[in-house]
Amino acid sequence: MAHQLVLVLDFGGQYNQLIARRVRDLGVYCEVHPYHISLEKIKELNPIGIIFTGGPNSVYLESSPHVDPAIFELGIPVLGICYGCQLMAHTLGGKVTEAQDDSAREYGKTLTYYDTSCALFKGMPEQGISWMSHGDYMAKVPEGFALTAHSDACPNVAIADEKRRFYGVQYHPEVNHTEHGKTMLHNFLYEICGAKGDWSMGDYAQTAVEEIRRKVGDGKVLLALSGGVDSSVCAALIAKAVGSQLTCIFVDHGLMRKNEGDEVEAAFKDSGIHFIRVNGEERFLKRLAGVTDPETKRKIIGEEFIRVFEEEGKKIGSVDYLAQGTIYPDVIESGAGDAAVIKSHHNVGGLPDYVDFKEIIEPLRSLFKDEVRTLGQELGLPDYLVWRQPFPGPGLGIRVIGEITKEKLDILRDADYIFREELRLAGLDRDVHQYFAVLTNMRSVGVMGDGRTYDYTLALRGVTTTDFMTADWARIPYEVLEKVSNRIVNEVQGINRIVYDITSKPPATIEWE
Ligand code: XMP
Repeated sequence: MAHQLVLVLDFGGQYNQLIARRVRDLGVYCEVHPYHISLEKIKELNPIGIIFTGGPNSVYLESSPHVDPAIFELGIPVLGICYGCQLMAHTLGGKVTEAQDDSAREYGKTLTYYDTSCALFKGMPEQGISWMSHGDYMAKVPEGFALTAHSDACPNVAIADEKRRFYGVQYHPEVNHTEHGKTMLHNFLYEICGAKGDWSMGDYAQTAVEEIRRKVGDGKVLLALSGGVDSSVCAALIAKAVGSQLTCIFVDHGLMRKNEGDEVEAAFKDSGIHFIRVNGEERFLKRLAGVTDPETKRKIIGEEFIRVFEEEGKKIGSVDYLAQGTIYPDVIESGAGDAAVIKSHHNVGGLPDYVDFKEIIEPLRSLFKDEVRTLGQELGLPDYLVWRQPFPGPGLGIRVIGEITKEKLDILRDADYIFREELRLAGLDRDVHQYFAVLTNMRSVGVMGDGRTYDYTLALRGVTTTDFMTADWARIPYEVLEKVSNRIVNEVQGINRIVYDITSKPPATIEWE
């Protein structure tokens, strides 16, 4: 079924994908395309509305991105946001200049006054906070446009030509800091563009499946399955599209949590795909023997992983497509520039060059994590996979501090299992965003029964976070911690002391290594 489409033209702003996401959240299918997409292509896409995003440039410079003015002749409603607003004003005969004094430059939360008789602001309160980020200023608005919002510093925060259905706002309605931003976008979609709200995640699955089928034809697809949410949803989606043409390789490096390998296998074994589980525990532990440095451990696990994958890939022979569960936040992070390396992340999804294949397919590339989870549910994956918290590629290898041995891994697995089970029983498993146990390399004296013990100290870690870039330690109730502690020292041999990590990130990181 074809659904209505809103086209987002990307001018390089940092929130562009967020705009698309907000539109989709409002039940309208949306695609982001580069600003220089041809007029023919736009006509072919036949959007019900077009949104110009923000961007870092100044419209009055020759070198800045512009649009073909004929876009305004198509009879399609346009919403310009920030740079997009200035671009519209500039293209249609207005004047945009650099803000001369600081007061016309606006950054951050700004009290904004709306003309609620404008269709864009219908049903909104007459004032509210909006999020601004612009250094340029619309000195003259184009003919036919009226001013529809202002702030204390700036007379033209929003402009509208209601007859032609062109709207522009200097602020960012898509960010959470903007009050009523959602209402404004809703108005644009439903009041102005005539949206019907005919899109849902189920439709995304259907469209993606059709697209994968079209692209892959009768070719072969290979996927490295880690058992994490992203690669699992990716596998389920491709399996739905091309079934037995997909081969999933699940490298069990022996550093998984308790029962995890079996759970992943159970979820995919009978799904009609070729599922290969490689038991690599022995070779991984052999290579890790005696290694204590965290970065060296990470590198060894990453390298060995690739080697196993490569060997298995060779057995299959040449494949046409390598599928990856890349999601949108990965795309942003990998483009983030030269941030200092804190930890060399090893992501089992990221394996471009090691096997002989023609092309990469990344069907989740434009989705955010929660959209991926919704899609996973839509595709019928079990809850424990869909709601799995993030688990690092190197697995328990970076949660056993110091040298990794099978004995230590088994102790950690049992303790970690109890912690996770108790948090689930306490109903905290979705409020605490990541929680796990760490086997410290420290041993201390304890007493059990009448005897002396000299066993490991286990650390429990629980954090709340929205983006995993910063995190706060979770305030897990004492009673829950008490129960976890009692159970672990009683049920797991080798641990006689338990501590709870109360550092946030920064200065600590979420993982210990
Ligand atoms: P840190 O320890 O850097 O972790 O605060 C932030 C988030 O990233 C996860 N993490 C990894 N994920 N490969 C991954 O795919 C890795 O090598 C890796 N190291 C850390 C960590 O679990 C947390 O969610």
